[in-house]
Formats: sequence, structure tokens, C-alpha cells
Amino acid sequence: MLIKKPSDIKPSEITPESVYKNRREFMLDGSKLLLGAAATSALPSVANAQNGDSLKARAPAAMRRSPPAAWWANKFQDIKPAPDSEPFFTGESLTPYEDVTIYNNFYEFGMDKSDPATRSGEFKTDPWSVEITGEVSKPGTYHLEDILKPVDLEERIYRLRCVEAWSMVIPWIGFPLADLIRQFEPTSKAKFVEFETIIDADTMPGIRSRTAIVSWPYREGLRMDEAMNPLTFMAVGLYGSYLPSQNGAPMRLVVPWKYGFKSIKSIVKINFRETQPNTTWNDLQANEYGFYANVNPAVHHPRWRQDMERRLPQTLFSRRVIETRLFNGYGEHVAHMYDDMDLAQYY
Ligand code: MTE
Repeated sequence: MLIKKPSDIKPSEITPESVYKNRREFMLDGSKLLLGAAATSALPSVANAQNGDSLKARAPAAMRRSPPAAWWANKFQDIKPAPDSEPFFTGESLTPYEDVTIYNNFYEFGMDKSDPATRSGEFKTDPWSVEITGEVSKPGTYHLEDILKPVDLEERIYRLRCVEAWSMVIPWIGFPLADLIRQFEPTSKAKFVEFETIIDADTMPGIRSRTAIVSWPYREGLRMDEAMNPLTFMAVGLYGSYLPSQNGAPMRLVVPWKYGFKSIKSIVKINFRETQPNTTWNDLQANEYGFYANVNPAVHHPRWRQDMERRLPQTLFSRRVIETRLFNGYGEHVAHMYDDMDLAQYY
């Protein structure tokens, strides 16, 4: 997600640069291939996990996290397993827990993929409050425990497609964003929802960095119908356990038909508004990162082709390159929201 001004990009540079990046990432990935391979064999397969297990996918026992506070343990006792059919499930192999929790984008902790995992040890996720503002009948600052009280947690196995052309399959734990939105009773003027990530310079080294390119807080937004779509999910866990800090603890958005940068992490503010909000990547480079950011193999990013993706983890012998699908394969459930729009213009 690095930035380059359009005027700096020569057409001839586009392919070599993406090839270079892929090569670099391939070499970096190589260092943990053996670890990844060993861990994969230790993971329950989706099919195995169904035998006597209440959830389809669980983290390896040694890696299960302890609850951020006592109340979390109660909440996690009753989780509905993912169904056996699309769209809340995919039969594709899960990305191993190790890759989901080591290969991350969370610039508040640094720009390298391993920074969020290695530099988030001090990050505190309890107590945690979320401020609800704007066009709602019940604005206020709510403790996360109270927001989660009325919702039922469920497991959803979704594809995550990053604009950098890699993808994963992740078993999330959480609840539909619509269930959270209804609690605060948006007014008829609420046409968009805006989200903000916490800024905690003491525990987030990326925020202290002088070379940071993001102007904090990280911001994202959805149109109201997108936010209310049954696929749009608030995750509080993955692989049957609490969300690790590097994945956006204690609560992050997951929008499976959009590029990963829409799925904002560690949310502290939700604002309901009449007009389209500014969003972090769109503000930084509007010609590279659109507000909609729907996964679309026909609309390329200047530096990453979008018709193919590298499904992680890769191995020395297989780069696992697969075709990217429009709306990341969720078109049947979301395409109607964009019927009147030119997707090349509203990318
Ligand atoms: N949210 C915040 N606050 N900061 C970030 O840097 N990165 C985004 C998104 N949410 C990001 C964020 C990007 S670019 C991606 S691809 C996904 O998080 C990655 O989620 P993951 O690390 O859990 O795979």
C-alpha cells in the first residue's frame, strides 16, 4: 500500500515493479515456509474440526489466546458455527492461523507485514469504548461489553482479498454490522457510516514514526445499504479465539467483497452521516484507491493487476496464483447495490 504519485509512474514501470514486489514478497515468505508447512499439518481441517467440535475452525491449542477480560470468556461460550453453504462459508482451504496472524497490514504498528505481530505487545484492548455520533437517536460513548451484550456471535468463513493482490481464507467470529447499527437507531438522514481506528501513540509505534504516510486516525466508510448488507461483519475473533491485536482487536470490520483496506481495525468511533466520508487511502491517492473499492478484476490498480491473486500461504513449489472474481465471488449477494453505477468510474 505504498504511495507513488501518478506523474511518477511510467507505463513501462508498471509490470517490472509488480514483478519485483511479488519476487520480494516471495523471498520474504520463503523464510517462514517451513514453519508454515509444519503448522498447516497441525491444524484441524474444516472437515475434521466438525467432528465433535462446536466450531469449524479453531486455532492450534498452544496458540489460543486468553480473554482480554473475564466477560469475553462468557461471550465466547456460545458461538454459532459457520453454516455449510455460501456465502457465510467457503469450502476453500483455510489460510493457516500462523499466516493470518503474522502477515498483516496495520500501519499503526509499522509498515512491514510482520510489524503488527511483533510490535503490538503493549497494545491494550480492554477496557474499550466506542463513540457513536451523528445521525442516530442514541448517540453516546458505549463500553464494548454493552455493545456486544445483545448480539449473538457466529462464525463466518470469508475470503479476504487485499488490493496488493494476495488473499486469504479466514474463519472470523463476530456478528452482522447491521445488528450493531440497529441498536443506535439511525435517523432517515443517515446515508453513510464512517469508522475510525484508535490513535494510541504510546503502544502503536507506527503512529510515532516520522516516516508514516497515513494521517491518523485511519478512517473508512460505507454507504448505508452496504453497511446493512447481511455479509458485512464486525469481527471480534478468529479461529475460535479472541482477535489478536495485529488483526484489529478488539473489534474490526470485515467487508468480504471489497479490498481489504476497507476492513478497518480496532474501531473506536462510528459516525452516521448524510454525506460520503473521507477515507484514509482515498485521501492519500484517489486514483489508486477508490471509496467503493469493490474487488474487480477488470479495473487494475496502477501497480497491481487485479485479475489474479496469490492465495496465501505460498510454498517454494507452488505460488498458488488464482483468478480474482468480481466482488471477490460474492456478486450474487451484493451486485444489486451497484446496478446503476459504472464500476470503472466508481472503483
Ligand atoms: N485498519 C487500520 N486501522 N490500519 C491499517 O493499516 N490495513 C488494512 C485493513 N485495515 C489497516 C486496517 C489493509 S490494507 C488490509 S489488507 C487489512 O486490514 C488486513 O487485515 P489483516 O491484517 O487482518 O489480514
